[in-house]
Amino acid sequence: AEASTSTSAAAPINPSIRKESDKVVDTVQVAELSKPLVAYCRCWRSETFPLCNGAHVKHNKETGDNVGPLLLKK
Ligand code: FES
Repeated sequence: AEASTSTSAAAPINPSIRKESDKVVDTVQVAELSKPLVAYCRCWRSETFPLCNGAHVKHNKETGDNVGPLLLKK
């Protein structure tokens, strides 16, 4: 019998990014940030991943989620 849970069953959070990889990892040299403020995606829906492109807004609206980017300041 399947265990019942109050939330939906575990599912991948990453719908499409680098699925050929066992694990998606990005490394950033912070001292070399190109701009004073850079936003990194945490919703896994950005077409410019690992950078945020605002796709979280649509995701949040469609799902009721509340995710947003990680901001790095130089
Ligand atoms: Fe993913 Fe903004 S697009 S956090």
